[in-house]
Amino acid sequence: MWPDLIQKSKDGGLDVIETYVFWSGHEPEKNKYNFEGRYDLVKFVKLAAKAGLYVHLRIGPYVCAEWNYGGFPVWLHFVPGIKFRTDNEPFKAEMQRFTTKIVDLMKQEKLYASQGGPIILSQIENEYGNIDSAYGAAAKSYIKWSASMALSLDTGVPWNMCQQADAPDPMINTCNGFYCDQFTPNSNNKPKMWTENWSGWFLGFGDPSPYRPVEDLAFAVARFYQRGGTFQNYYMYHGGTNFDRTSGGPLISTSYDYDAPIDEYGLLRQPKWGHLRDLHKAIKLCEDSLIATDPTITSLGSNLEAAVYKTSGSCAAFLANVGTKSDATVTFNGQSYHLPAWSVSILPDCKNVAFNTAKINSATVSTAFALQSLKPDGGSSAELGSQWSYIKEPIGISKTDAFLKPGLLEQINTTADKSDYLWYSLRMDIKGDETFLDEGSKAVLHIESIGQVVYAFINGKLAGSGHGKQKITLDIPIDLVAGKNTIDLLSVTVGLANYGAFFDLVGAGITGPVTLKSAKSGSSIDLASQQWTYQVGLKGEDTGLTTGDSPEWVSKTPLPTKQPLVWYKTTFDAPSGSEPVAIDFTGTGKGIAWVNGQSIGRYWPTSIAGNNGCTDSCDYRGSYRANKCLKNCGKPSQTLYHVPRSWLKPSGNTLVLLEEMGGDPTQISFTKKQTGSSLCLMVSQSHPAPVDTWTSDSKISKKKRTRPVLSLQCPVSTQVISSIKFASFGTPKGTCGSFTRGHCNSSRSLSVVQKACIGLRSCNLEVSTRVFGEPCRGVVMSLAVEASCS
Ligand code: GAL
Repeated sequence: MWPDLIQKSKDGGLDVIETYVFWSGHEPEKNKYNFEGRYDLVKFVKLAAKAGLYVHLRIGPYVCAEWNYGGFPVWLHFVPGIKFRTDNEPFKAEMQRFTTKIVDLMKQEKLYASQGGPIILSQIENEYGNIDSAYGAAAKSYIKWSASMALSLDTGVPWNMCQQADAPDPMINTCNGFYCDQFTPNSNNKPKMWTENWSGWFLGFGDPSPYRPVEDLAFAVARFYQRGGTFQNYYMYHGGTNFDRTSGGPLISTSYDYDAPIDEYGLLRQPKWGHLRDLHKAIKLCEDSLIATDPTITSLGSNLEAAVYKTSGSCAAFLANVGTKSDATVTFNGQSYHLPAWSVSILPDCKNVAFNTAKINSATVSTAFALQSLKPDGGSSAELGSQWSYIKEPIGISKTDAFLKPGLLEQINTTADKSDYLWYSLRMDIKGDETFLDEGSKAVLHIESIGQVVYAFINGKLAGSGHGKQKITLDIPIDLVAGKNTIDLLSVTVGLANYGAFFDLVGAGITGPVTLKSAKSGSSIDLASQQWTYQVGLKGEDTGLTTGDSPEWVSKTPLPTKQPLVWYKTTFDAPSGSEPVAIDFTGTGKGIAWVNGQSIGRYWPTSIAGNNGCTDSCDYRGSYRANKCLKNCGKPSQTLYHVPRSWLKPSGNTLVLLEEMGGDPTQISFTKKQTGSSLCLMVSQSHPAPVDTWTSDSKISKKKRTRPVLSLQCPVSTQVISSIKFASFGTPKGTCGSFTRGHCNSSRSLSVVQKACIGLRSCNLEVSTRVFGEPCRGVVMSLAVEASCS
């Protein structure tokens, strides 16, 4: 996917690709490096260069990034005497070794700009300043050491530290956040840089989906350049998918879509991508002035601000309305300008507006998941091509490497994160006269875990389960029998913590107390201190079920469904075409899935988002925060899981799932993500003309100045505009998909638009009375169009 994603970034007007380097991916075992496949960092950097882009390499090696353990390999935790991210010799030695490894690799390939390559900047550490107070005095010396260690590697290009106000010279301290216009670096010799402008936010299992309106994102960017910014990076521009068990935690979803301009599947998210592309063009029209001088900032009234970059030969201005409620008309250099609330206008010649952050000239393009029938000869829907076979994972201890230990063990220290799964198993002898066997009063098993999922099996039967980020408390009424009983507790991690002071030590698993209470007498016995048997991982993980090759698969009917801990397998043909593919896991519970042996990640369609906080149309005006704009309340957080096309063969693909909760895999379906057949946009008479047509006054007479234009283009090159679902020039209302006419409407609207667009891939409609007549006077009118492509 890289070449296409990189090209779409270049086309979107980016100059630099910023990427983290994931230590856990590149050194999964100590001294065993992996730079293959999707960990081929050299290839990635070279592809960026090939597309004409620079690279900012954020080595970290702590990266956060909603990545398992913040990017640290878990073996690091077991290095004797180690303390992470502080002035600790074992840690510093490992950090230096890995950082050196990466820098050397880049140098060997001549990838630093100092060598003629694309890397213009590298990062050491990540947002340590946010949490360093927790590390006391050692934090200061650790940061000093990090800086000098990085500098000693002599890359020939600058280093940055993000969110590190005390970054020692010459490390550039940079800003991360939703806005960074107020940020200033810690020295006048350093450029004002923004390493993470959060284009949306990440999704958690059990959470609604965050989104960030592009008007606000563009506003944040324009404000940054208005106030002297030099470098701004979208985090994420493309977030993609956290395949396998790479998602951080706890409980971070497999999708890392992030509401980014390029979506999880590599498709353009419109109008986000297009509006930002226009913004980038407008800013670059100011380039001569921006690089020549600092801005002069003046007030144009309450909440109104002008910044002028003026030299003898050039002038560029940014006009901002930072008020959240009222639009304003300002006078600047004797001319008047309309500034919607919470918006910035960019004037590359200090006179004519090339762009306003709140006035979108890019159409919304629908995208949809289309169900795929995998059998060409029919079948009603998209059920999988062939039959399912299964293998039941044993409940409780089944592996020979199981071991006994008194007391309850913390999970990460026990599994070293080799697997999400840890069995805690106990055998108990209950004599006939004990209170736990009383008729009519069940015994209650009390379990406390610090995360993230627990299944309790009594005598081989699922008795209860629960999940939580840091705390799970279960009280499960259970049936015991006289004589031998087994209590098998399966504890499951869902991504190791990646953020916060000492995140590496928060731990997971059933840490207790665990007790057995008699519901009747109230007496209880402590189970935590007893002798438990432990098993790291599942049997099927060890016996290689994930590839589907094992001879043990059972294809007898009926297929066991709605039972915990069953491995399922089927084969399927790739959906036709080249559109991105997703599996819809509706019908299953929770687990991990593999396609042709590649883990596509954890699936959990039964994890439902809470009911509160969602808005369909979020007001972009006013400060954004991660939970300001949410959708998908009350629905599964993630039902669709990306399967990269490159992992599929035309036919005979294997899908394996480990279903831990219980579900029906026959309900699984395949979908393709298709870019849309529907285009929609509203452009007013006060919108700037398309940025591509912008010319300064010196080059064009006032009369010829281009008017606003509504441009439509079908996203797929073979499509043409086939129908106009809505067209109104006047005072149309509403948003895409629900436009309605206002009191003022040109009767020509539909016929003009039809004539200009039908049968063509793209069309441009001037938004003016010259074209549409004058349905009313004294108001700023708009043209709203909704069209279909086919
Ligand atoms: C930042 C961090 C990133 C990412 C982001 C949230 O604090 O530097 O790595 O975790 O938050 O998506």
